[in-house]
Amino acid sequence: MTPGQRAAWQALGLGPVWVRRDARAALGEGLDPSGAELPRPDEARRAPPSPRETIRGEAIRGEAIQAEMARSADPTPMPDWESLQASVRTCERCGLCRSRQQTVFGSGSPTAPWLIVGEAPGAEEDLRGEPFVGQAGRLLDAMLAAIGLDRARDVFITNVLKCRPPGNRNPEPDEVARCAPFLRRQIELLAPTGILVMGRFAAQALLETDASVAGLRNRVHRYPVGGAELPLVVTYHPAYLLRNPADKGKAWADLCLALARLPRQRAAAG
Ligand code: URA
Repeated sequence: MTPGQRAAWQALGLGPVWVRRDARAALGEGLDPSGAELPRPDEARRAPPSPRETIRGEAIRGEAIQAEMARSADPTPMPDWESLQASVRTCERCGLCRSRQQTVFGSGSPTAPWLIVGEAPGAEEDLRGEPFVGQAGRLLDAMLAAIGLDRARDVFITNVLKCRPPGNRNPEPDEVARCAPFLRRQIELLAPTGILVMGRFAAQALLETDASVAGLRNRVHRYPVGGAELPLVVTYHPAYLLRNPADKGKAWADLCLALARLPRQRAAAG
């Protein structure tokens, strides 16, 4: 482990952890290119279904989001990146436009291999116009650093909702549904090699399910786009991890899984 990775590991509150060799087998070969220790075997195995995890309180149901998405399907032609940014900036599709300071389209490198999807901007993101710049964002940065990724260079980060829900309340199903075409088009245009999904709301919206993070993490899902299927890994939201540090080991296992299964390089053109 390099000194930088050790610092990131400590920032995550994870180490040191020593594991038996069979833990590596349980997670797959070569999950940690740095040679860092992997989580304990019991953390690495699939978590049994558990009561619904709550990020900001009351749960919303995947079916409700899907029903809203069907109702609010967007018939307009698909915009390019700049037009999409402009559409988001001036969006009035739901009531969040009345309380926001500004929209939060996303940040990072549009040519980066990975896309990271969170839930919605919070207070600091709403002020600064960038995703994950508050306390949860600092933990996300540490999580990325722990696997050797830089948020400006190696990923593009966005949220399901482009506007802050007032008081950081949960997103409403109709807000998710009305915003979903923006995320969908971002994924089409970015064409990432894989998607890392942070938390229940993003996972439920992208995977069209009402399952909990505990039920969705620790495996590779497929997200269909443009005739292909992108590998997608779900993990806990950094804000949840700040409140539930005992689950950081599981998040580490998910990051290792993402490293192993989401390609770090785009295929060469032509
Ligand atoms: N939480 C999120 O899901 N996204 C942000 O941008 C900030 C906090």
